[in-house]
Amino acid sequence: MSGKPVILVGRKLPAAVEARLMRDYEAILNPDDKLYTSEEIIEISERVDAILPCHSEHLSADVIGKLSDRVKAIANFSVGYDHVDIEAAKKRGIIVTNTPDVLSDATAEIAILLMLAAARRASEGDRLVRSAGWKDWSPSFMVGTQVTGKRFGVIGMGRVGQVAARRARGFDMDIHYYNRKKLDPALEQGATFHADVDDLLVHADFLSIHCPATDETRGLLNAERIAKMPEGAIVVNTSRGAVVDDEALIAALKSGKIAAAGLDVFNGEPENIHPGYRALDNVFLLPHIGSATRETRDGMGFRALDNLDAIFAGKEPKDRVA
Ligand code: 8YV
Repeated sequence: MSGKPVILVGRKLPAAVEARLMRDYEAILNPDDKLYTSEEIIEISERVDAILPCHSEHLSADVIGKLSDRVKAIANFSVGYDHVDIEAAKKRGIIVTNTPDVLSDATAEIAILLMLAAARRASEGDRLVRSAGWKDWSPSFMVGTQVTGKRFGVIGMGRVGQVAARRARGFDMDIHYYNRKKLDPALEQGATFHADVDDLLVHADFLSIHCPATDETRGLLNAERIAKMPEGAIVVNTSRGAVVDDEALIAALKSGKIAAAGLDVFNGEPENIHPGYRALDNVFLLPHIGSATRETRDGMGFRALDNLDAIFAGKEPKDRVA
């Protein structure tokens, strides 16, 4: 390779990240932040040594199969990489990396926000005040679910799940978790491990989902599993919409089996989410902003660049996933 490696940058990134990109690479930036089509990515790949996509760019097996041989790496600006067909990348010898750690605090903050907002009926109350529909007060007015001292169930006790659990301890919550592997006691911090997700659900007054979307976790929170949860439990999801069976959750929110849900991620996001959610009062909905803080966006960009730097220096990148 002569000259600086050429990088296709999927979306507009923070100024400091783009400055480093321009200093160290020949970067094809996206100042208008427009979403590239698969055809455009394939066409531009003829001129690039690596792609730096977000989860908004879908690199399916078909797209990866059609990328130019010049592409050596896909350095994601995300911790989740379900938008990239890892097997197809491996087959083509394309290195794939992600950005763990740097977004754990921000995403856990949103999990706690969703938990509190769902439990204390925040969107309902906000709508009432804004619409001038607030006419009266009484002891039975807008009564919600108390968070303090309840059981906080975590599916996926990875980096984000662990931070969320730590924050939940601030509300004196009793932490239960399901994970593929039991954590070391130092990381568990007294949390109770459940080897079977169904066993966890029985104990989850609040359920916070932190596992990636994989073939094993797709539709994991379905009707049978929801039935095992305590009456009036609350569901929080900051991972991927794919982990939830929307029909089942909406039915449970309507029946009251699930008292409320706080959701930041959806099947079909952004435009084709299940319309049933929009009609419910007992949901608090956010548009996938778990990691959307200035600090974390910089952190994600720098981490993706650290990975690219290692790859083009012929070293093993820290966050290789394929
Ligand atoms: C990001 C996320 O905003 O990193 C992830 O996996 O889901 C989000 O927090 C997004 O993916 C950036 O590409």
